[in-house]
Amino acid sequence: MANNRRPENMERITTPELARAFIAEQLEALRAQIGEKKVLLALSGGVDSSVVAALLIRAVGKQLTCVHVNHGLLRKGEPEQVVRVFRDEMDANLIYVDAVDRFLDKLAGVAEPEQKRKIIGAEFIRVFEEEARKLDGIEFLAQGTIYPDILESGPVKAHHNVGGLPEDLQFELVEPIKFLYKDEVRVVGHELGLPDNMVYRQPFPGPGLGVRCVGAITRDRLEAVRESDAILREEFAKNGLEGKVWQYFTIVPDFKSTGIRDGLRTYDWPVVIRAVNTRDAVTATVEDVPFALLQHITARITSEVKGVNRVLYDLTPKPTGTIEWE
Ligand code: XMP
Repeated sequence: MANNRRPENMERITTPELARAFIAEQLEALRAQIGEKKVLLALSGGVDSSVVAALLIRAVGKQLTCVHVNHGLLRKGEPEQVVRVFRDEMDANLIYVDAVDRFLDKLAGVAEPEQKRKIIGAEFIRVFEEEARKLDGIEFLAQGTIYPDILESGPVKAHHNVGGLPEDLQFELVEPIKFLYKDEVRVVGHELGLPDNMVYRQPFPGPGLGVRCVGAITRDRLEAVRESDAILREEFAKNGLEGKVWQYFTIVPDFKSTGIRDGLRTYDWPVVIRAVNTRDAVTATVEDVPFALLQHITARITSEVKGVNRVLYDLTPKPTGTIEWE
């Protein structure tokens, strides 16, 4: 059993110097562990897997193969950014899997939130397994496990690993950031030259936009979630709220309401905006977003997002509302 305790004397990585020392130490350790062998990594583009990818690219270059599964539930521009940063700029071996239809077909008609999560998790493992089987001679599986995953480890943390691979497809694990806290991972990621919007991004659930497209996912509502989320993020960034508000996103419920556009009656979806602050995600308060900004975002969403005629702001703290709607 691997040692899963952070060393008592390990200094908190808060500065570029400490990050550089950590990186140097890890490169040596990774090269010693992996030697001339091959490593596989599921690269979501989230900060943890991105930092692991960047470390491994430096340590063992083309001995690493990254698999990026686009399940259709990522934010606007994310799959493209993964390809650009890792394949084009860092020259990594990257397999990009367009699994959008596959996931959306499996999810069609499924309304129950936990069932949706299960389908997304299981399908992810299946796609990854298929890709792994196509590759020869892989001996290691790298994972972006971080220290809170180990401390909180329970059934819900499965989103951070591809645990669940079948018996005949087991690899030795490579977990270079398993003793780091999130803030340390970000300092290291910055030092590795990853883009700021990858390193400092807000938390994003494993099932992605799937839990923000309430009820049974349809392609039109999913696009409405993705487009409205992109507008919200753009406006928060422009107005100095990026990095200040802990988590902010949009939700599209599965009901319609009447509206009016160009003198004609519409019957379209609402978009709900949620913006919360929290220390630990156990409780949360609602961000006091300036009313004029909310009005501006509303005007943009109702004019730019297809099928949407109304915007609401969720004023509910946690409790009683969870942060996500599902
Ligand atoms: P809730 O909605 O429970 O969310 O108040 C608390 C935090 O957890 C995130 N979240 C998830 N993260 N897989 C994840 O990786 C999930 O299934 C999941 N559900 C919620 C949520 O975004 C928030 O930051």
